[in-house]
Amino acid sequence: MGSLDGKVAFITGVARGQGRSHAVRLAADGADIIGVDICADIPSNGYPMATREELDETVALVEAQGGKMVGSVADVRDFHALKAALDAGVAHFGRLDIVCANAGIASMAFRELTIEEDLEQWTDVVDVNLVGAFHTAKAAIPHLIAGERGGSIVFTSSTAGLRGFGGLQGGGLGYAASKHGIVGLMRTLANALAPHSIRVNTVHPTAVNTMMAVNPAMTSFLENYPDGGPHLQNPMPVSLLEPEDISAAIAYLVSDDAKYVTGVTFPVDAGFCNKL
Ligand SMILES: NC(=O)c1ccc[n+]([C@@H]2O[C@H](COP(=O)([O-])OP(=O)(O)OC[C@H]3O[C@@H](n4cnc5c(N)ncnc54)[C@H](O)[C@@H]3O)[C@@H](O)[C@H]2O)c1
Repeated sequence: MGSLDGKVAFITGVARGQGRSHAVRLAADGADIIGVDICADIPSNGYPMATREELDETVALVEAQGGKMVGSVADVRDFHALKAALDAGVAHFGRLDIVCANAGIASMAFRELTIEEDLEQWTDVVDVNLVGAFHTAKAAIPHLIAGERGGSIVFTSSTAGLRGFGGLQGGGLGYAASKHGIVGLMRTLANALAPHSIRVNTVHPTAVNTMMAVNPAMTSFLENYPDGGPHLQNPMPVSLLEPEDISAAIAYLVSDDAKYVTGVTFPVDAGFCNKL
């Protein structure tokens, strides 16, 4: 018996990294998965997005846990495409219980940008991280309410959603602003959806061992961070968490063990936020 037997979870940014790990963990706990990923690059972003092959690999990994998964290509910035992918998944599985709004980009740069590049990074990071999170919730909430079984939404924010760091350029400022914005979205939805027993929370990871944190553009940004760098280190002796560490927090928040936990900003950060 898994804690999520019979439940269905919708996960964005599912082709690799934390999204893939959440899919595998929730499937191991008994859930079936509806997953989307952009599977195409975003030109202003300094590292590549996942591929269709990686999305297929996530489906295979979920199936290896005994779960079922409907995986499709959709950009969270395109509400109608996202909704169509989710609606098809709900039609396939017959219900929706859990939502992980996980897709995100971090367009940090440490080089001279033209003003056009700077503005484009701001727009793209806010569109993906904040508008995309809103689209995800907007598409999912009618299914959760119609199910009349409650539900759980978890938005993936960041330590940058609770503390002010990110430099002076559009990408870093947009990352911090979007991740703070997700907290406002979460708090408001937690109040609005409480009468339906739909719980809404955020997780705030410190640096995680995925493409987002481990790529040449991010490495050069961190090495040249204007205020130094030591404050980007965790008090606990770990520099990068593993995706599974975040999945463990998600698995708790979406389970009945957390049935009265809502409106919470949940750091998984090795003490990072408490330090500052
Ligand atoms: N890695 C870190 O250090 C870290 C720290 C804190 C928070 N986060 C957050 O965790 C979440 C997951 O990131 P990750 O670490 O797994 O990085 P990642 O880059 O490995 O994974 C992000 C996934 O989202 C997908 N994606 C990006 N834009 C999309 C869009 N417009 N539509 C659909 N899919 C899209 C990518 O293709 C990729 O598969 C993000 O929201 C990120 O901001 C990451």
